[in-house]
This record gives sequence, structure tokens and C-alpha cells, in this order.
Amino acid sequence: MRLHIVKDYEQLSSKAASFVASQIIMKPDSILGLATGSTPLGMYQNLVKLYQEDMLDFSEVVTFNLDEYLGLDTDHPQSYHYYMHTNFLDHVNILRNAIHIPTGNGDINKSGKEYDRAILKAGGIDLQILGIGSNGHIGFNEPDHILKTETHMVRLTKETIEANSRFFSSREEVPREAISMGMGSIMQSKKILLLASGESKAQAIARAVSGEITTVVPASLLQLHSDVTIIVDEEAAKLIN
Ligand code: GLP
Repeated sequence: MRLHIVKDYEQLSSKAASFVASQIIMKPDSILGLATGSTPLGMYQNLVKLYQEDMLDFSEVVTFNLDEYLGLDTDHPQSYHYYMHTNFLDHVNILRNAIHIPTGNGDINKSGKEYDRAILKAGGIDLQILGIGSNGHIGFNEPDHILKTETHMVRLTKETIEANSRFFSSREEVPREAISMGMGSIMQSKKILLLASGESKAQAIARAVSGEITTVVPASLLQLHSDVTIIVDEEAAKLIN
């Protein structure tokens, strides 16, 4: 694991954008695995800026998002479909049919299988971008005694519902279930970029980087991957030994 500790969120966002930009420059038809949440927002803003300045071309890029809530319409302001389009995808020249986001409605089993097939058909993910939950989750792969390899339905933990309630008007409105890419597609990505900012992520980052490898900290499994880059700010790096 390569660890970069930067001063603050602003530096994290520009370093992460540079990392993704170099991936696209080196391989214009990159298959990117994308994450949502507050952490990658600054990175997406920087990538949009690079595109507007003619420094980046997304015309051959293909994307697969990590996850989506169950039961929210795609135009719901808290759906990950809405997040991805408004914060990033609608502002760059990516082809509409190159965008893949798990479907949180209908037959989840079936759409999960189709999602995994589409990732395989595309040739697998070149660069997977990840945030981390304060409980160590990646995507929506929550701490558990077993982790699933395939795209699957997830029952969100109390901790995640609590953490994500800041985006909704009340805790009750947070969906209890989600669909998430499993550990298989994540671990099979050629490269992984993990981002974390702020003190609330310090414990999860320390456990991911140097704790025991255990399914109760899904991010700790990343220690088994051969090409992981971690960019964290000083606050999030605080508990790393
Ligand atoms: C959410 C998402 C994750 C994200 C994480 C952290 O629940 N499913 O993909 O990485 O929680 O979010 P944030 O960056 O807002 O702290």
C-alpha cells in the first residue's frame, strides 16, 4: 500500500484528481470504478475543471459505480444516480452508454448479476476509487462475519444509517437497504485509490492500513491487494502507527 498523507481536504482533492487524470491520460479508455459520499466531491470538481481546461478527455472512459440505495428514484436528490450526474458525469464528455450505476429498484438479484457480467465484459476495472465508512465499510460492504464477492443487496448498519442521515432531512428517511458491488469486483480491480478525510475516519484508516485483516473491517482486505494508493489528510492519518 502506498500512503500519501496530505495537509487538508483541498490537497487531498487535487492529488486524487491528478491520480485519476494520469490514469486517463495513460489509458484513455480506462474503466473507472466510482464512489459517492462527501469525500470524492472535491476530486470530481477538480476533474471537471481539468476537462473544461481541455486537459482531459472522457470520451472513451467507461464507469461503474459502487453502490446505490434501494427504493429511491434515480432523480431523488439523495440517490447516487443523482449525485453522480449532478456532481460529475453531466459536466464531462463521457458517453451516456458508458455510465453504469447499480439499479436500486426491481429485481436486485437479477440486476446484480447483470452488473457483474457488464464489469467482466468491459474487461474489469482499471482504477477503483473508494471512500471509507467510519466503520471500515467500502462501497456498502458492511462489517460482517462474511463478505459477498458479487454485487448484492445490503442491509445497512445502524452506524451507516446514522452517518448518512446528515444528507437526509431525518434519520427515518435514510433507506435501510442498498445494492453494492461486492468485494470480488473491488479486489479484482487493477488499481485501487482509497480516500479519507477528517478525524471521524482516523480509526477506520488505521485499521485498514495496519490492523488485522478481518471481514469486520472490510477495508482491511485491501492489504491483500497489490496496487493500492491511499490519500488521506492529516486528521484522517492521525491514528496510523
Ligand atoms: C457511503 C458510501 C461509501 C462512502 C462512505 C463514506 O455510505 N456507500 O461508498 O465511501 O459512505 O462517505 P463519506 O465520504 O461521505 O464519508
